[in-house]
Amino acid sequence: MGDDAKAPESASDELAAVWSALGNAGSIARQRRIADLFEGEDGAARFESWSAAHGDLLLDWSKTNVDAGTRDLLLALADKAGVAKARERMFSGEIVNNTDVRPALHTALRNLSGHPVCVDGKDVMPEIASTLRRMREFADAVRSGEVAAFGGGRFRDVVHIGIGGSQLGPEMACLALEPYHDGPRIHFLANVDGASAAQIMDRLDPATTLVLVASKSFTTPETMLNARTIRAWLASDLGDDGANAHLAAVSSADGLAREFGVPDDRIFGFADWVGGRLSMWGPVGLPLMLAIGGSDFRSFMEGGHMMDRHFREAELSENLPVLLALAGIWHANVMGYGSRAILPYDHRLGRFAAFVQQVDMESNGKSRRMDGSRVARDTGPVVWGEPGTNAQHSVAQLLHQGTRIVPVEFIVARRGHEAGLAAHHRMLVANCLAQAEALMTGQSRESVARDLEGRGLSGADLRLQAAHRMFDGNRPSITIMYDRLDPYTLGRIVALYEHRVFVEAAIWGINCFDQWGVELGKVLAGELLSCIDKGRLPDDRDGSTRGLLDSLMS
Ligand code: F6P
Repeated sequence: MGDDAKAPESASDELAAVWSALGNAGSIARQRRIADLFEGEDGAARFESWSAAHGDLLLDWSKTNVDAGTRDLLLALADKAGVAKARERMFSGEIVNNTDVRPALHTALRNLSGHPVCVDGKDVMPEIASTLRRMREFADAVRSGEVAAFGGGRFRDVVHIGIGGSQLGPEMACLALEPYHDGPRIHFLANVDGASAAQIMDRLDPATTLVLVASKSFTTPETMLNARTIRAWLASDLGDDGANAHLAAVSSADGLAREFGVPDDRIFGFADWVGGRLSMWGPVGLPLMLAIGGSDFRSFMEGGHMMDRHFREAELSENLPVLLALAGIWHANVMGYGSRAILPYDHRLGRFAAFVQQVDMESNGKSRRMDGSRVARDTGPVVWGEPGTNAQHSVAQLLHQGTRIVPVEFIVARRGHEAGLAAHHRMLVANCLAQAEALMTGQSRESVARDLEGRGLSGADLRLQAAHRMFDGNRPSITIMYDRLDPYTLGRIVALYEHRVFVEAAIWGINCFDQWGVELGKVLAGELLSCIDKGRLPDDRDGSTRGLLDSLMS
């Protein structure tokens, strides 16, 4: 799979014809260098033609091996695959998650349009607005000290306990928006490894620590064990009532949160039609609101909302999420590249790749189409990444000279927050652009050889050195550039990636809103935990698992 557009999977002949034409375009592209697309009359305008913008947010996909004809085919693919219709179904609250049988309305959490959003004929916006108001009142009160610690005094630290979608988004955003922090310090506890809880308990003082338990289901075993451990830590210092006074919860299961001891007015709920990995716009974003305050949080929401409007209203050919998705489809399905790297040249986006990994891989790591049939071509690629310039000293070797081609997505701000360190930013940006250029242009054996000759090398030595030092180039990248990483821009970038994943799923015909692939491991872990607790080897396991259990328990 992934080599070309082999078997048409759709009943639609038109769609099959587009996939087939894309396969032919891929064969031509494999004989062509990306850099050549910048030559000639069309080439001079390529940057403008292969860029799209939302205000200062620029998406440049000119350094991909897509020519004008191929771009038209990709747009036809989006059209024939029904992207526009799928998009409307999602925004209007139809059941787009067909296995959980519910809508996917994370966009309603950031809907600042004043227009209603209906589920089963009922406008859900009043409830969302009321929860947002309560979040804001709570965040303001914690930040001002009005909501105080049990023994009096301000909460100085907040521990947010949650995992996956209940952690990655807010953690990524808290780091990204550090310059806007003026509230309590925020810490995240996700891993069930006791090392993580121990770190929190060693470093913080229970007397001044507020604990948020964030779990959509309020049953995730790792989160619940961490929550029990941290609650016991609070209680050992403050007693039971004191511990409860230091708790708040974010969940769709308010009953379970109440049972855990969280006071009613500290439970912030959201509907089950908000997917965990898309939930940071509502109560799951509470740690971000505590850190940066309600007004900056609103700017973040505005960014998401404006990207929603752009996604919903802009022509496909100008539509940032659509174009980013089409580049992804081209690389994954036509060129056969199995992964994509996200390299933010913005230090505070250090957790962005980890966040997108969940949004992308949990959403689109699927083998079945919506109707249950097996997909006929590859779906979500492996997503990974590291911030630049660090990445240049770790992963760049493979990106430039490895046998596998990895399309790279560079993310970079025109300006940093550190006005006094402008020299750093200039060097950062120069490195970002240089990486993209080097990936595309490479360096020929001849030019390397000339250089080596100039330095006195000749014969076998020269040939050996030139072979190792040359770069094939012709490796694609996309660059996303914006003025500065402020709350509004972060909101736009997050929504851009969310919608990109949705568009790719619509083209593949898969449901990007469920995650059945994580369930089996959970069940087996429960069974094995019971064996470990009882110290009994199970009979019904494979030899390797039994051997490892035996070794563990001996
Ligand atoms: O990893 C599976 C998953 O269900 C994710 O989809 C989700 O974000 C995470 O677990 C946490 O779930 P919860 O918020 O219910 O604790």
